Amino acid sequence: MPSSFDVTSLASLDTSALPRIGRAVGRGSAHAKLILFGEHVVVYGKPAVALPLRAMRMRATAWREGTEPRFESDHYTGPLATAPEIVEAPRKAIEETLRAIGGDLEGLTVAVRGNIPLGRGLGSSAAAAGAIVDAVSRLHNVTLSGGEHFALVQLAEQVAHGKPSGLDALATTIPSPIRFQNASAVPVPVALDACFVIADTGVHGSTRQAVDDVRTSLERDNDSTMATIDALGELSDSAIADLETNEPRSLGARMSQAHELLSKLGVSHPALDGLVAAATGAGAFGAKLTGGGLGGCIVAVVERGNASAVASALQSAGAIQTWSVTSTGTPL
Ligand code: PMV
Repeated sequence: MPSSFDVTSLASLDTSALPRIGRAVGRGSAHAKLILFGEHVVVYGKPAVALPLRAMRMRATAWREGTEPRFESDHYTGPLATAPEIVEAPRKAIEETLRAIGGDLEGLTVAVRGNIPLGRGLGSSAAAAGAIVDAVSRLHNVTLSGGEHFALVQLAEQVAHGKPSGLDALATTIPSPIRFQNASAVPVPVALDACFVIADTGVHGSTRQAVDDVRTSLERDNDSTMATIDALGELSDSAIADLETNEPRSLGARMSQAHELLSKLGVSHPALDGLVAAATGAGAFGAKLTGGGLGGCIVAVVERGNASAVASALQSAGAIQTWSVTSTGTPL
C-alpha cells in the first residue's frame, strides 16, 4: 500500500477506457515489432527476422454494459454498428473471437489504447487485434491456444492487409527476436553489441498497396522480380548469422543492400531514402526501410555510443520521431 495519496498520478489517470468498478473485465495487450529483414519476401515463403518492441504496446479492455455494442479508441468512440473504416479490422477481431468462443455482441464494449503509431510498419494493426482477441476471450474466461490466437489475429489482419504472411501476428506476440518462415517462428539468439535507431518519416504507408504493387511487378516481370525476392530472402539468413556472431558492420552492409533491393521492388519512398542516407551519413553501419514501406519507418544499426548522434541527424533530416533500442528491442 502506498503511504501517501498521490494526487498528481490520479489527475493524469485516463479513466475513459475504464469500466465501472465491480464489473467483470477482460484485458489483453500486445507489443510493436521491428522487421529487420524479409518484409514482403516473407509473403512468398522467404525467411524474415523481427524484434519485439516491448515498450510500444496496444492494450485492450472488454466489458459488458447496456445493450449496444461499443468501441472506444483515440480514433473513434461510439457504437460499433456505425464505426468508420479504420475500426473494420478491430471489429473483425471482436466478431471472430466471439464466434470462436460462442459469445455474443450484446452490450459488449471494447476499448483499445496504445502508443504504436498507425500505418508506420511497426505492427499497430496486428498488436491491436492480438490485444482484442485476448481481452474478449478472457472476459469469457476462455484460454485460447497459440494457434487459435494466431488464426483470429490473421482474420483481422486480412481486413487490414489482404493476404498477410502471419509475420506481424507472431512478432507482436512473441517477446524475443524471431526468424519467421511459412507461418512458424523460431527464436534467434542475438549477440549483437550494437543498437538500432528507428525513425518515422511521418508518411503513412499502406501495406496493402505495397503488397499489391509487389504482386503486380511479379506478374509483369516475373524473372527479375523473383531474383530480387530471392536475394532479399538470402539476406535474412546471412543477417541472422551476423546477429548471432556480433558482426555489426556486416549486418549494416546487408541492411543497406536490402534497402536497395526493396527500392527496386518499388516499396520505398523519397522520405525513406532520405532518412536512410541521413543515418549512414551520420555514421550508422547501415540502414533500410522497415515494414510495408511506401512511407513509415527506417531502421539503422548503430554503435551504442553513436545512437544519440544518429537520432539527432535523423530528426534534422525530417524524422518526426525516433526510438533507440538494444539489439533485442529493449529501449536504450
Ligand atoms: O504491417 P507492416 O507494414 O509491417 O508489413 C508487414 C510485412 C509485410 O511483409 C509487408 C506483409 C506481410 O504480410 O508479411
